[in-house]
Amino acid sequence: MVTRIDNLMHESRRFPPTVEFIADSVVGPEIYAAAAADRLAFWADQARTLHWHKPFTRTLDWEDAPFAKWFDDGALNVAYNCLDRHVLAGNGDRVALYFEGEPGDSRSYTYAELTAEVKRAANVMAGLGIVQGDRVAVYLPMIPEAVITMLAVARLGAVHSVIFGGFSSESLRSRIDDASAKLVVTADGGYRKGKVFPLKHAVDAALAAGTESSVEHVLVVKRGGNEVEWQHGRDLWWDEEMAAADVEHEAMPFPAENPLFILYTSGTTGKPKGVLHTSGGYLTQTSFTHRAVFDLHPETDIYWCTADVGWITGHSYVTYGPLANGATQVMYEGTPDSPHPGRWWEIIQKYGVTILYTAPTAIRSFMKIGRHIPQAFDLSSLRVLGSVGEPINPEAWIWYRDIIGGGNTPIVDTWWQTETGAIMLSALPGVTTLKPGAAQVPIPGIAIEVLDEAGTDVGLNSGGLLVVSEPWPSMIRGIWGDPERFVETYWEKFGTKYFAGDGARRDHDGDYWLLGRVDDVMNVSGHRLSTAEIESALVSHPMVAEAAVVGAEDEATGQAVVAFVVIKESQAHAATADEASTLLRAHVAEQIGAIARPKLVFLVAELPKTRSGKIMRRLLKDVAEGREVGDTTTLADTSVMRIITDKLS
Ligand code: PRX
Repeated sequence: MVTRIDNLMHESRRFPPTVEFIADSVVGPEIYAAAAADRLAFWADQARTLHWHKPFTRTLDWEDAPFAKWFDDGALNVAYNCLDRHVLAGNGDRVALYFEGEPGDSRSYTYAELTAEVKRAANVMAGLGIVQGDRVAVYLPMIPEAVITMLAVARLGAVHSVIFGGFSSESLRSRIDDASAKLVVTADGGYRKGKVFPLKHAVDAALAAGTESSVEHVLVVKRGGNEVEWQHGRDLWWDEEMAAADVEHEAMPFPAENPLFILYTSGTTGKPKGVLHTSGGYLTQTSFTHRAVFDLHPETDIYWCTADVGWITGHSYVTYGPLANGATQVMYEGTPDSPHPGRWWEIIQKYGVTILYTAPTAIRSFMKIGRHIPQAFDLSSLRVLGSVGEPINPEAWIWYRDIIGGGNTPIVDTWWQTETGAIMLSALPGVTTLKPGAAQVPIPGIAIEVLDEAGTDVGLNSGGLLVVSEPWPSMIRGIWGDPERFVETYWEKFGTKYFAGDGARRDHDGDYWLLGRVDDVMNVSGHRLSTAEIESALVSHPMVAEAAVVGAEDEATGQAVVAFVVIKESQAHAATADEASTLLRAHVAEQIGAIARPKLVFLVAELPKTRSGKIMRRLLKDVAEGREVGDTTTLADTSVMRIITDKLS
């Protein structure tokens, strides 16, 4: 890792902003000085760009650290900020969403139309008994109804929990239960790679699986046209309810700290964490960063973020940031290569997309299939490119700039997390001289440090732990139902400084370079997965005695899930090694979802452990990455690694 970063940091290409870009840039360099002069006043100013039904007088209350309160005596309505106020300002005819379905269907919504839809949906939900504080689970494809649902829930002061459509019914059930959701909004199915994938079916399985569930109703959007089973009294068609609903709905104010959503993310234990975000601070930072980082000109830009609403990027930079800013955006349902490998570029050409925000894993897969694919389309409308989810290697960065950006678009590499809610480190395109591979500098108003284990700043050119040293508006407010785990996970190490779980290094200019996770969290295609969660899925299979999972470096996906499994003696002859591996990969997909399916499963006789019984994943990672196995002296039985490597070579 250290050698790789040393090589990276010799990257000497620099890209200062052009004179033309600077001339029309939304923010200039003075913003850093303004934020540094008075951080809290800076954030209060940003918050005042929103509409407050009741203005706040207090900016930050950190008395009860690490439980922060921002703007807490103010009251606002998040959906009103994303919709009604734009219509009232005379922008009702501006397109909010251009939707492109995978099969080629398309529709668009102006701000006036989207507002009307959200009002109707809020009336539907209110009619189903949803009130402030209730939880609504959302399990939908990337279709406008996903955004409409999130905003309708927010409009009522209720709390959404969006569950990515790729998660299994088991995962869905545990998330519904953890949050005691009252309503589930889903679809019959969605389109992916030319086929319909069922969603309602998984909701039925989730609700049937356990005992009594908190869910009273399931609202079903018609999308895939696939057959669904129906539970009368519980299940309702979205279309029918919307057609019958009143179009008038007044947005009521809710306190700034009213919970907005829960989003489950993987941590270092087997159980996903329900990361809680609230209203005023979250909307302040998502809208500010969306404006400043992407240099958003809402009257002229066409913005496209390719993330699914099931992830934090889809929450902050599809739903809330862009709509709070009155942006026009593209939303696409499907995969990049359906029905042909140029689909994304075709969409950019069709809508004249000016800002594209995507993940390095996608860029690397486009690099692999070749530049002739994007080069067949007119991409000249693009003027800002963004990257998120994992470090972008300089080679991919340059390809992105040259082939997609025509050699002159700035690239902003944005570092942040589900927990941070919004971008924390990034270049600003009209201000920063860009360095391929670096996440560059803290956003104005954000305080970041790199510390050693003892909490001392490591200074320049040394690796350490990335820490956010002052509270920020869009910060995580807690883990749903588990305040102790919240404190333990993020705050135990450095007190009132937030420990992000990432390693980082600052170069001689003070720019930040990310070194990957320092805990047992993997990053596969920019998605977070926990080794412990996959291990516990594996040991839940009757064949498995023990399992260890590592994230091995992978050219396409950043990291890949590699599992080492010990089969129970009684099961040793139940299946061949190939059969067992296929079975276990499918079992993980069923337990968690296809995204967690291991790329490789190795059957081994024993796992390497320390004398105290701790699995030495570091050694397994060496094997999975094809390296010579490192120091084995702390192993309880030093022959274990030899047996593993002999068997696998
Ligand atoms: O390791 C960092 C990596 O993704 C983690 C956060 O994952 P998640 O909560 O799923 O959010 C992903 C989208 C914001 C971080 O702890 N990560 C995210 N962005 C970057 C990154 N690593 C390096 N560079 C980035 N730009």
